[in-house]
Amino acid sequence: MKRRTASRRTPSRWTASDVRAAVAGLRGEVIFDAPLKDYTSFRIGGPADVLVMPADAEDVGRLVRQAHAAGIPIFVLGGTNLLVRDHGIRGIVVSLAKMKAVREEPGHVLYAEGGAGMPTVMKHATGLGLSGLEWAAGIPGTVAGCVVMNAGTKLGEMQDCVKAVRLVDSAGGIVECPASAIRFSYRRALLPRGIVVGVWMQLKPAAKEKIQATVKEYLRYRKDTQPLTLPNAGCVFKNPGPDPAGRVIEAAGLKGARIGDAQVSDKHANFVVNLGHAKAADVIALIKKVGRTVEERTGLTLELELKIVGEP
Ligand code: EPU
Repeated sequence: MKRRTASRRTPSRWTASDVRAAVAGLRGEVIFDAPLKDYTSFRIGGPADVLVMPADAEDVGRLVRQAHAAGIPIFVLGGTNLLVRDHGIRGIVVSLAKMKAVREEPGHVLYAEGGAGMPTVMKHATGLGLSGLEWAAGIPGTVAGCVVMNAGTKLGEMQDCVKAVRLVDSAGGIVECPASAIRFSYRRALLPRGIVVGVWMQLKPAAKEKIQATVKEYLRYRKDTQPLTLPNAGCVFKNPGPDPAGRVIEAAGLKGARIGDAQVSDKHANFVVNLGHAKAADVIALIKKVGRTVEERTGLTLELELKIVGEP
């Protein structure tokens, strides 16, 4: 296994042969020392010791069992609402990027593998004349990521349409979990421990043209109000109350504030954009500055929606 000499990484508790045992026999792709900036919407992040893209749920199960036996932790990478720190992630990082199938099931149900992107899932729904996902227009995440975060907009959220999820549990078994066993709250879902590898969504029939028109209108709104042309990780903070985070941050005079190549978007103040070569450390310093300034001026404590992982 390739090892970097100049890295400040924490020494691992496992050996190269443990890692080989954990990924042995997988049918998906295995990449050692994978630069996670290539796999995140922010285009920021140090390396993963190993990045695995399993072929299917059975492959995920095999990986979970083997990693557990080898004593190596697994982190599941969605990649959009995430900031990976500059020295990356130790252990195994799993991406479901190769598990993207979407199919229709009886009763106006759509099943998508966990790695399918929301835009793709929506395209399928629209093509089939199935309504219920229009609120997600422009959300770039994977469908599994959207469940885990209970992604949403003012117009709806994931919890409104999830019927059940398919999980690989901590023993590597594949189980089905009905929506009633998931505790959804604002931008959070409490699920049984495991990796979401598929999602059933309950939709309802509607005229294709009507769905298309709604999606188009929401997309235009997002394009007009959000900095979609620069790498970003979506909204940084949860809305703290009736006054949305973007408005509060703008009122604190922080639009355009910059540390290194990380900048508070001047289009939407609850977004931080990467102007080119931003480091995770720049983003974190900027986020702290925003939190501090808002607290001083308004007394409001902003809570992160963005997930920060990895080694500084
Ligand atoms: N506003 C400002 N200044 C700004 C940004 C916004 O004054 O810099 C004002 C707007 O004028 C508007 C209000 O704040 O009156 C709300 O803004 P917006 O419609 O953009 O919605 P939001 O509450 O800021 C939420 C979600 C977004 C989602 C949009 C669109 C959260 C934390 N944010 O943003 O989700 O895209 O609605 O529906 O729930 C995300 O989850 O990553 C995310 C970006």
